[in-house]
Amino acid sequence: MTETPELLVISVNGVEHRLRTPGSRSLLSVLRGDLALTGAKYGCGNGECGACTVLIDGQAVRSCITPVSLAHNRSVTTIEGLTAEDGLHPVQQAFLDAQAFQCGYCTPGFIMSAIALLNTNPDPSELEIRDALAGQLCRCGVYPRVIEAVQLAAAKMRG
Ligand code: FES
Ligand code: FES
Repeated sequence: MTETPELLVISVNGVEHRLRTPGSRSLLSVLRGDLALTGAKYGCGNGECGACTVLIDGQAVRSCITPVSLAHNRSVTTIEGLTAEDGLHPVQQAFLDAQAFQCGYCTPGFIMSAIALLNTNPDPSELEIRDALAGQLCRCGVYPRVIEAVQLAAAKMRG
């Protein structure tokens, strides 16, 4: 049976969108397919790799397994929403400075998870960083540089 579309109001990167769509669709599918925001990546599609990570009200979620209805009347941030007019977000800059990527497919997810961590813990220990990013997978194996990048970003954001 086909699901009846519902009207959803979702703020994405500060822009309000009114979408009529089945609420059970994944947030990732709506971001990529309907809003052309392709920064969040499709990896495993079942919540295991973290490539699709975005923020809802500042908290990291796996958008491939998040029904879009959960984002109704809430604020979604994707990697595209980070770049300010005056440059990159400090976490993005730190990933560049630490060269914390190879192919880059996992990078948006790592960055969004790192931001969620730093939103609540501005001075995380290495163990806390490892814990927070434990669900983010990287086939290229850049984990040590990711840890370095998050430490760099945390220091910069604390000033
Ligand atoms: S694509 Fe969402 S967790 Fe892997
Ligand atoms: S940099 Fe290639 S998957 Fe992480």
